[in-house]
Amino acid sequence: MAHPSGKNGKNKPTKRAVKKPAKKPIRKPKTLPKQSDAAIAGTALGKVPEKRGLSKALKADADQLARRSLHKKVKTARGRKLSSTLWLERQLNDPYVARAKAEGYRSRAAYKLIEIDEKYKILKKGARVVDLGAAPGGWCQVASKKVGAKGRVVGIDYLEMPAIENVQLLQMDFNDPAAPDALKKMIAGPVDVVLSDMAAPTTGHKQTDHMSIMALCEAGLEFAEEVLVPGGVYVAKTFQGGATGDLLVRLKKRFTKVTHFKPKSSRADSAEMYVVAQGFRGESRSD
Ligand SMILES: C[S@@+](CC[C@H](N)C(=O)[O-])C[C@H]1O[C@@H](n2cnc3c(N)ncnc32)[C@H](O)[C@@H]1O
Repeated sequence: MAHPSGKNGKNKPTKRAVKKPAKKPIRKPKTLPKQSDAAIAGTALGKVPEKRGLSKALKADADQLARRSLHKKVKTARGRKLSSTLWLERQLNDPYVARAKAEGYRSRAAYKLIEIDEKYKILKKGARVVDLGAAPGGWCQVASKKVGAKGRVVGIDYLEMPAIENVQLLQMDFNDPAAPDALKKMIAGPVDVVLSDMAAPTTGHKQTDHMSIMALCEAGLEFAEEVLVPGGVYVAKTFQGGATGDLLVRLKKRFTKVTHFKPKSSRADSAEMYVVAQGFRGESRSD
């Protein structure tokens, strides 16, 4: 019997019989191609740019990296309600919030008016614009840029707002019976566009919220009917399927074209949409 240690030499493995483990090739760590600033900015809008030409594995890595760096989580802090935490998380991950910050707009809402104007071309150079429910001022900023130095923008909100170049602001409740006259005095002439992004704080009760926004939309329309030039435009925020019933009938009677529009920048989970009424038929009653 052979000695288990192979000391008798019989079972001693020969050099040739020993199989050396195969050397693992040294793999270089995967590195993503350097991205341009514009490309990095693109990732903030949810895209993974400059992926063309990458291998499948690298594409997957790039996707994962972009997703990981994009979605910011907010730690639940003591004393902060879950709803506040979720709101904060949504703000931090909202590309329009990031864009507004980068482009100097006071609110992400600015992009809704930009989209409305891109589609309907309502803000012309030299136009006079009244903005109802203007705070914090994104729409006023957009309108002011569009109408230029020869135009005029007046904004009203019951909230205080810091001054905006080329814009006159009135801190007052639009439902105050003195508000329409105060606005007319400030704008001092016929108006080309009345905008209303007014919204009362939502209650969560669908019908109540719908009624309150419709009441604001109607109050804005009443004002628009008093100040608009023939051919003028009225844009107002609505909820739950847009303007309906008597309000829609009245809009169609007073304007040649009435459409509803949901800008991409309006959150998909919000029932908000805008009614855009163009071609005011009446005579201006304010001059
Ligand atoms: C969605 S925010 C407007 C955002 C604004 N378009 C922007 O771009 O920054 C709605 C505003 O309507 C205002 N508002 C609601 N009811 C109002 C009222 N009766 N009178 C004046 N402002 C009102 C609120 O105070 C709020 O600031």
